[in-house]
Amino acid sequence: TPSAAERVHDLIELIPDFPSPGILFRDLTPVFADGPALMALAEALVAPFEGRFDYIGGLEARGFLLAGAASAVCGKGVLTVRKAGKLPRNTIGESYALEYGEARLEVHAGQLPAGSRVLIVDDLLATGGTAGAAARLVERAGWHVTGMAFALELNDLPGRQVLSDYEVFSLLNA
Ligand code: PRP
Ligand code: HPA
Repeated sequence: TPSAAERVHDLIELIPDFPSPGILFRDLTPVFADGPALMALAEALVAPFEGRFDYIGGLEARGFLLAGAASAVCGKGVLTVRKAGKLPRNTIGESYALEYGEARLEVHAGQLPAGSRVLIVDDLLATGGTAGAAARLVERAGWHVTGMAFALELNDLPGRQVLSDYEVFSLLNA
């Protein structure tokens, strides 16, 4: 039987020139649509951190999906790390640079008990801007970042270096 990495790798579609010319886009939607592959991926993301986290921090939007699947696998709850303006109560926010402009992630202040250990989960590590902002947010909120788990890491971008303060696991590299 194929490993989780083989399963996921074989389902990722490579799309040239999306969303702009010269970009080779990795489309993970076929992974999300394949039940056994999604379960295998969720198991693989939490396994390196087993026993070391209390919550899964899912990054909107694609990270939510993996965080939910990981929650079903390991029984931990999800911290929804949301794009700005979506959360109704008192929030803590962190801005981060995009290729053009900036974006902002937010969590509810006091959402988790102080000192909670959070495993950050997302589909893809590119520049590391998104996960780095999420980690700063978790720390400013008074919680601990156990580490970060990604389905796919892009090697020609500096994500690893940007996140060098953290334990980073990626199932696949490209
Ligand atoms: C994508 C991806 C990661 C992030 C990675 O999300 O799902 O969250 O970009 O890029 P980075 O390492 O350079 O920060 P996107 O912001 O496109 O949001 P989406 O999940 O809502 O599509
Ligand atoms: N695929 C999906 N999301 C992304 C990519 C990609 O290749 N690059 C940056 N975000």
